[in-house]
Amino acid sequence: MNDSVTASLALPGLLDGPGPRLADHLAAYGPLPPADAVEVAARAGLTGRGGAGFPTAVKLRSVAAAAGATHRTPVVIANAAEGEPAAAKDAVLLATAPHLVLDGLQLVAGSLGADTVVLAAPGRVLPALGAHLAARPDGPSVRLHRAADRFLAGEESALVSAVEGGEPLPRSKFPAIRERGVDGRPTLVANVETLARLALLARGDAGAAGRALVTRRVEIGRTPVTDVADVHLGARLGDVLRIDDDVPAVLVGGYHGTWLPAQVARDVRLGREDLADVGASLGAGVLAALPAGRCGLRETARVIGYLAAESAGQCGPCLNGLPRIAAALALLARPGRVDGGLIDDVSRWCGLVAGRGACRHPDGSVRLVASALHVFAGELARHRAGRCSATDARAFLPVPAVRA
Ligand SMILES: Cc1cc2nc3c(=O)[nH]c(=O)nc-3n(C[C@H](O)[C@H](O)[C@H](O)COP(=O)(O)O)c2cc1C
Ligand code: SF4
Repeated sequence: MNDSVTASLALPGLLDGPGPRLADHLAAYGPLPPADAVEVAARAGLTGRGGAGFPTAVKLRSVAAAAGATHRTPVVIANAAEGEPAAAKDAVLLATAPHLVLDGLQLVAGSLGADTVVLAAPGRVLPALGAHLAARPDGPSVRLHRAADRFLAGEESALVSAVEGGEPLPRSKFPAIRERGVDGRPTLVANVETLARLALLARGDAGAAGRALVTRRVEIGRTPVTDVADVHLGARLGDVLRIDDDVPAVLVGGYHGTWLPAQVARDVRLGREDLADVGASLGAGVLAALPAGRCGLRETARVIGYLAAESAGQCGPCLNGLPRIAAALALLARPGRVDGGLIDDVSRWCGLVAGRGACRHPDGSVRLVASALHVFAGELARHRAGRCSATDARAFLPVPAVRA
């Protein structure tokens, strides 16, 4: 990021602005200038903040191309579903700077010529969003959609299905929703942070694409503490997240993310390539420092049990693979003699599951498992010898109760 550009424009960032009132927003940021969303995104090299980090301009262009080819008017969906239990960045963004999100949505809808514009968010934030929308009578008509309270609700094809009135479940990868989404029309699904960053970029804040919102989770004393920060993508993870000397590992990206040993995590920078070099990605922006005395295997087993139960069970990898992997991990997470072959089995099953579902849920889930087997290999050996180095049995990562 170029901090000097941001500073010279004197524009506040996503979280240090004047708050949610439209008048304050306009006083701080000025009106949204006319701009082409594709050009703005392409010039800045903006990537999506919903998890996959896909280039926003490429996605916008493919929706526009599909609309041109099919003569069908596109649909735009702003994604604030935030199904990831450890993430809070989108909810904090909507509470802090809703008009930046709505500006971004307006910009994208205008550039694509969309006539159906939807903002999908958890039910608890919809009343406030309704009031913010009512304050903008000149903007595009935005339909609020209550996102289901489940992990998969924010997956783009699940959102399309729910917006059409169906179950909030992912559907086949083909055709891509960019070509045939809501009611068969080309559909853009964009994360709300991506949209807010577009709104800053359109106003000339060239540094906005070089920052990301992250949800940080650490334990202070015996209390888990979560907050959201707007960080420079060139920053050292150890400078962004408090990683005490006795922290064994850091979870990067969320429940579809990767465990890193603390000594690797401290020095890695948050940029895409830097994280990729150590096998990680920023994903849903979750950074969690596993406290000393906790068992990383037990934490992972709980998370995978939750992810397996949250899957739609529509495809082989979720129907057979994830439950089997979750059951094996639950065994490995307990100190006691297990057949050493079980670890190899889990690794093999992870390989069999990846890339075979209709959505990326299995891929993300096994990424977490594979990193746990690697980073907590020493703990695995201890468990097999009937010991565990954990001194604190309390859960650290938030996992909702598994639905009946
Ligand atoms: C299982 C699963 C859950 C997802 N949940 C969310 C979510 O809650 N919010 C979100 O913005 N993207 C989520 N995504 C990513 C979306 O499918 C989509 O890529 C994203 O909203 C696109 O926005 P972006 O290009 O701005 O990143 C999820 C993906 C998967 C595979
Ligand atoms: S891969 Fe899993 S979560 Fe994705 S659609 Fe298939 S069953 Fe559902």
